[in-house]
Amino acid sequence: MMGRMTHAVQRPGPDAHGHRFPFESVADQYEAARPGYPPALLDAIEELTGRPLQGSRVVDVGAGTGIATRLLRDRGARVVAVEPGPAMAGVLSRVLPRVPLVRALGDALPFAGGSADLVTYAQSWHWTDPARSVPEALRVLARPHGALALWWNVPDPDVTWTREQEARLARRLPGYHAHGVTDEAARIVRGLCPALAPVFRRLHWTRRIPLDTHLAHLGSRSSFAALGPGEAAAVLADERALLLELFPDGAVEEAFAVDLTVTVASS
Ligand SMILES: C[S@@+](CC[C@H](N)C(=O)[O-])C[C@H]1O[C@@H](n2cnc3c(N)ncnc32)[C@H](O)[C@@H]1O
Repeated sequence: MMGRMTHAVQRPGPDAHGHRFPFESVADQYEAARPGYPPALLDAIEELTGRPLQGSRVVDVGAGTGIATRLLRDRGARVVAVEPGPAMAGVLSRVLPRVPLVRALGDALPFAGGSADLVTYAQSWHWTDPARSVPEALRVLARPHGALALWWNVPDPDVTWTREQEARLARRLPGYHAHGVTDEAARIVRGLCPALAPVFRRLHWTRRIPLDTHLAHLGSRSSFAALGPGEAAAVLADERALLLELFPDGAVEEAFAVDLTVTVASS
C-alpha cells in the first residue's frame, strides 16, 4: 500500500551530508524560504474538527523549524512541538523560544494517553511509519473529540508552469518524490483503522515572492538537500533562467494546493 502513495513514506537515513533526518543541512534556508500555510487551512481544521483552536492542546509532530507551530500558536492553541532532527529543532527553539519542544518521533510520542485535543503533522507524516504513528496519535488524543490533522502544501498541479517545473525536477533529481498526496493519507488511515472516517479537503492559494526566495524554497526540498551543493546549484541555475522568461520582473507567483486530511478519533 505504501508504495502507491505518491508522497511515499520516506525512511530517515543518512543523506549526502551524513544527516539522519531530512532537511538537517538546510534548516536555516528552510525557515527563511518555505511558505507558511493559508488562514483558510486553520479555518478548515476548526470546521472539520468542530472545535476552535483557541485553548486547545495541540501536539505538532515533525514541527521542523516551527512554521505550522507558530500559526497554531497564533490562533491561541497551547502547542507542544515534536521534532527529532537536531538542526531543525535548534532553529525552532531559537525562533519560538517559549514553545515547549520535545525531541521525538511520531512513531513513539512521549505523551500520556488522552492528553491532546489535536495532533498535527504539517507535511511530515510521510516520514513516519503510519502503522505506528496513527495508533500513537489515537492513543494520545482525548476522546471523543480528539482529532488527527495531516496536511501537505504541494505545488499546485492545476497551474501549468508549476506542473511543468515539477516534471523537469522529476527528470533531474535522483531523490525526487512527487508532491501531491490527494486523498491517499485518508485511504491509509481508513485502511489501518476501518472504524475511522477521515475527511479530505483540498485548498488552493498563491504567494508572490522574489525569484531568489523561490529558488531557496526549491533548494530546501529534501531531494535538493540530498544532492551535493554543486549539483543542486546547476539545477537551480537552469530554473532561474527558465523562470526569468516567465516572470521577467523577477517576482514569482508560486501556486500551491494544500491537501488536508482530518480524522476525529471517536468516529
Ligand atoms: C517537511 S518538514 C515539515 C516541517 C514543519 N512541520 C513545516 O510545516 O514546515 C518534515 C519534518 O519531519 C521531521 N521528521 C522526520 N522523520 C520524522 C518522524 N519519524 N517523526 C516525526 N518527525 C519526523 C523532519 O526532521 C522534518 O523537520
